[in-house]
Amino acid sequence: MENTKVYVGMSADLIHPGHLNIIKEASKLGSVTVGVLTDEAIASYKRLPYLNFDQRKMIVEYLKGVDKVIPQNTLDYVPNLLIEKPDFVVHGDDWKEGIQKTTRQRVIDTIKQWGGKLIDVPYTQGISSSILNERIKSIGTTPEIRMKRLRRLINAKKIVRILESHSGLTGLIIENVKVKINDVDYEFDGMWSSSLTDSTSKGKPDIEAVDITTRLHGLNDTLECTSKPFIFDGDTGGKVEHFLFTVRTLERLGISAVIIEDKIGLKKNSLLGTSVLQNQSTIDDFCIKIKSGKEAQVTDDFMIIARVESLILGKGVTDAMERALAYIDAGADGIMIHSKEKSGDDIRDFCSKFRKVNIRTPIVVVPTTFNHITEDEFSEMGVNIVIYANHMLRASYPAMLNVAKSILTHGRSYEANEICMPISEILELIPGTK
Ligand code: SPV
Ligand code: MG
Repeated sequence: MENTKVYVGMSADLIHPGHLNIIKEASKLGSVTVGVLTDEAIASYKRLPYLNFDQRKMIVEYLKGVDKVIPQNTLDYVPNLLIEKPDFVVHGDDWKEGIQKTTRQRVIDTIKQWGGKLIDVPYTQGISSSILNERIKSIGTTPEIRMKRLRRLINAKKIVRILESHSGLTGLIIENVKVKINDVDYEFDGMWSSSLTDSTSKGKPDIEAVDITTRLHGLNDTLECTSKPFIFDGDTGGKVEHFLFTVRTLERLGISAVIIEDKIGLKKNSLLGTSVLQNQSTIDDFCIKIKSGKEAQVTDDFMIIARVESLILGKGVTDAMERALAYIDAGADGIMIHSKEKSGDDIRDFCSKFRKVNIRTPIVVVPTTFNHITEDEFSEMGVNIVIYANHMLRASYPAMLNVAKSILTHGRSYEANEICMPISEILELIPGTK
């Protein structure tokens, strides 16, 4: 038994008696190696764990019965099994169903080659990770944990999926909505605080007329009831002297990143393109703004992402490339490349040219017009973050307008009732209402 090798794979995010039971059973068979799933392996099929890899690895290293800990880089066990050649693999029997079913079969087929056996330990009843998850969610988060999460997501996921939020309610939807397809959970990774939707929901134009302080008041509503990371639309960033304060404030609130665009003077919404007068900053001036912002931030985690408006202003991909590279030299942590072309060809062209000279700096896109391109395609193009920048507001406006018109048309709300959420549901929507 001394030389008998046992392999256990686990995420070890919320350790509970079920995990300890598996390690106990495994240690009865021989020397236990635990493969701790990396953030990347976990994010390939469900939400990012609360604890990062180093924290989870340390917890497992100090568990009784564990002899060795190694990273498991994929949900698939095979690469580690081929290295470790264990006599036994031990796992909870809950993986006989769902996404892990094929993973399990591959384990059986692989270890059979050297006479290894899979032991499925009966699932420990009465303990549920999903209940623990709900409890943790209800506790909320801290600004530091929330802020760091965006960098973790960029490192762990093929594509980070962000949706616009302009209120506590939209934030709650983004926090909680989930779709399961082929046993994989899909959810949004974080939120975008849009200047367009913040302004529109206040009945104001998107020209920096709603000042930062007012926008931060609104943002606080969403921060209060969510835990996912936030990217803040910082418009032009304003005067350099003012931008420094914005960076500090956003950082203190636990915002992960600010995106500032290289425009000067009266900024108008980018989707208006060249139909309105908009001026681009000089490269040098914008670099000073980026550099000053980076010097002002307190932590290493906060990100300043430079938004290149060359394609919006008809200046072409060559100009966009020159600017992007200069902004990175000035300290930008990422590049948002924007366009209002429907085809998305200019975005493709930019990404391909950019990735030839820079493989690491995150690229952000906002596919409002080129919305036929899928997240998988963006990922192939080298994009890291996709922002759906205005959809919650655009969805709600027609719905509200229809209800208003229906009440006017019928002189009562009876007909509108059908397109409204039932009162019983709205009373249950927000925790603590009852
Ligand atoms: C916003 O959402 O405010 C943006 C993106 O800046 S766009 O509206 O496309 O300019
Ligand atoms: Mg904006």
